[in-house]
Amino acid sequence: MTSNNRLLSWVQEMTDLCQPDYVHWCDGSEEENQRFCSTLVQQGTFRKLNETLRPNSYLCLSDPEDVARVESRTFICSREQSDAGPTNNWRAPAEMKQELKQHYKGCMRGRTMYVIPFSMGPLGSRIAHIGIELTDSLYVVTNMRIMTRMGKAVLDVLGEGTFIPCLHSVGRPLLAGDKDVPWPCNAGNRYIVHFPEEKMIWSYGSGYGGNALLGKKCLALRIASVMAREGGWLAEHMLILGITNPAGEKKYVAAAFPSACGKTNLAMLIPTLPGWKVETVGDDIAWMKFGEDGRLYAINPEYGFFGVAPGTSMQSNCNAMKTIAGDTIFTNVALTPQGDVWWEGMSGAKPARLTSWLGKEWTPESNEPAAHPNARFTAPAGRCPCIDPQWEDPDGVPISAILFGGRRPSVIPLVHEAFDWRHGVFLGSVISSERTAAADGAVGAVRRDPFAMLPFCGYHMADYFAHWLCLGNRHDPAKLPRIYYVNWFRKNQDGKWLWPGYGENCRVLKWIFERCDGVDNAVQTPIGCVPAPDALDTTGLDISAADLKELFHVDRDQWLNEAAAIRSFYETFAARLPRQLVEELDALEARLRALS
Ligand code: GTP
Ligand code: SPV
Ligand code: MN
Repeated sequence: MTSNNRLLSWVQEMTDLCQPDYVHWCDGSEEENQRFCSTLVQQGTFRKLNETLRPNSYLCLSDPEDVARVESRTFICSREQSDAGPTNNWRAPAEMKQELKQHYKGCMRGRTMYVIPFSMGPLGSRIAHIGIELTDSLYVVTNMRIMTRMGKAVLDVLGEGTFIPCLHSVGRPLLAGDKDVPWPCNAGNRYIVHFPEEKMIWSYGSGYGGNALLGKKCLALRIASVMAREGGWLAEHMLILGITNPAGEKKYVAAAFPSACGKTNLAMLIPTLPGWKVETVGDDIAWMKFGEDGRLYAINPEYGFFGVAPGTSMQSNCNAMKTIAGDTIFTNVALTPQGDVWWEGMSGAKPARLTSWLGKEWTPESNEPAAHPNARFTAPAGRCPCIDPQWEDPDGVPISAILFGGRRPSVIPLVHEAFDWRHGVFLGSVISSERTAAADGAVGAVRRDPFAMLPFCGYHMADYFAHWLCLGNRHDPAKLPRIYYVNWFRKNQDGKWLWPGYGENCRVLKWIFERCDGVDNAVQTPIGCVPAPDALDTTGLDISAADLKELFHVDRDQWLNEAAAIRSFYETFAARLPRQLVEELDALEARLRALS
C-alpha cells in the first residue's frame, strides 16, 4: 500500500517489538469497517443496537477500570525536564523508552496489529498533519475511522512524506489457551507518552478515548502545541462556531472550556433569540493560524465528535441528538430492553428497566447511575444538522472572538471582556474549573486549568503563555480576536443554577457579537468589561432581577481572594512566568483595592 521507507521500516521495527500474529493495513473502506464491526460483535466487544431505532450503531462497555483519561500516567518526555514544565509529568526519553519497551515486548502476541493511516485536517490540505497509529484494538480502529480521515487515501497523500508515529497497545497479549475479554486493557500499567522533540507518541495499557485515539489529545493537542510554537501558530482545546445575526451577518467564535465544561453544547447551540443561527465547525480542537490579512483563522482537525453522553437531550442539545441518531458508537451508556441507548438526562422519565454500563440490571431505584458520567458517543461530524458550510475549508474561518470559561459556582460573572489581548492572555492563563469525570480522579474540586490546556500542553506552560503574548505583539491589535471569560455555572445558595445555560447562552453570544462590531454597550469593572445595564438581551427570559444582578456582581473581597489564589498559582512557574502576566495581576489587584 505504500513505498514510504521510513513508514515501512518503522512498522517492521514495531512488529518485531510487539510480535503480533498478523499485521493489517487499514484501507478505511466501508466494507472493511462493516467487517471490523461484525468481528467486534462476535467477540462481545460491540453490541449492535436496534437497527430501526438506532441504525448502524453499536454499544461498547469498557472495563470499569478504564473509563477516562489518566492524567497521572500522561508524560511529556522532552530531553530537558524544564521543557516539560511544572504542570506535566516528565521522564527522560531514553529511560522511558527502555521501561516501555519491556512492556511492549511481545504485547501483541495472539493479536493483530492494525496500521491506521490518518489525517488531522482535510486530506491533502497544506494545514493537515498525517499520523500513523499502530494498535491492537479494533475498537480504536472503528473509532479512529469516525474521528479522523482514515485509510488508503491518506497513504496516497503521504507518499514519501513525513508522519507522526503513534504506537498503541492495550497491553494484554493472548497466549496459548488465553480467552480474550470484551475490553482488553492493562489498567495497572497505563502510559500515555509523548516525545515532543521526536514528535512521537507511545500509549500502553488503556483503550479509552484520549488515551487510545491518538490523533485527538496526543497528536492534535500535545504534539501539535509543540509544532505550533515552532511554527508561530496555535493548537487549542477549543470549539469553533459560526454565528449569524437576524440581518444575515456572520462571525466565527472559538472557545476554550475544560473537559466536560460545555464545548460540544455551545458549538451546537440552538439560539432562543429569534432570527439568530449557530453553526458548528468543531467541538473540541482548533488549529489557528494568522492569515496574510492579519486575521486569525481556525480549522477543526477532527472528522467526528467524541462527546459526553450524560446530559445530552432533545432539550439541551437537539443537534447532537440528531447527529447520534445513527452511524454512532456509544461507550459506557446504558442499554434499553428495546436495544437502544439511555443515559442520565436523556429524557425526563427514567426507563423502568435498563442494563447499566456495568452490564447489570438497573431500575430507577438503583443507587448507581445507569451510564458512566464520562460515557461518550463517537459520531461523524458530517451527520450534524448544523455543521457549518465552511467546516472543511482548508483556509479555516476568521475568528472574531475567543471565549475562555470553566465551572465556577461563585465569584466569576456570567461574562466579562478583556481590555486587550494581553489582558485576555491573562484571563486564559487563570481559567479555573471544577474537576469533571473526563479524567480519572475525584470530581468537583476547583483547579486552575490554564487555557483549558492543563492536561494537553506538550511543553512548559509558562512558555505557552509567552507564545500567546508574542503572537499578540506580532499582529495588528485591531485585527486580533476580542477575548472574553464566560461562566455558565454560577449557583445560588440552594445549589441551583443561576443561569439557564444551553440555548440561552446565545444571549451572551449576541452581546459579544455586538461588541465585535464596536457597539458601546459595556461598563468597566476592575476585572474587565461587563454588559451595560439592559445590554444583555433578556427578552422572553424568565430570570429575576436579583439573579441577573448576582450574575454580574463583582465582589471586591471575593476577587481579592481570587487574585491571591492566582498569585500562588503563578508561583508554580517561578521566574519562567512572563513578566507581563504578573503586571496584569498587579494591575487587577490595584484596580480592586481602588474599589471602595
Ligand atoms: P470534552 O469533550 O470533555 O472536552 O467536553 P465539552 O467541553 O465538549 O463538554 P460538553 O459540551 O459535552 O458538556 C459537558 C456537560 O456540561 C454536559 O453534561 C452538559 O449537559 C453540561 N453543560 C453544557 N453546557 C451547559 C450549560 O450551559 N449550563 C449547564 N448548567 N450545563 C451545561
Ligand atoms: C476531554 O477529556 O477533553 C475529551 C475526551 O475531549 S478525551 O478524548 O477522552 O480526552
Ligand atoms: Mn476535550
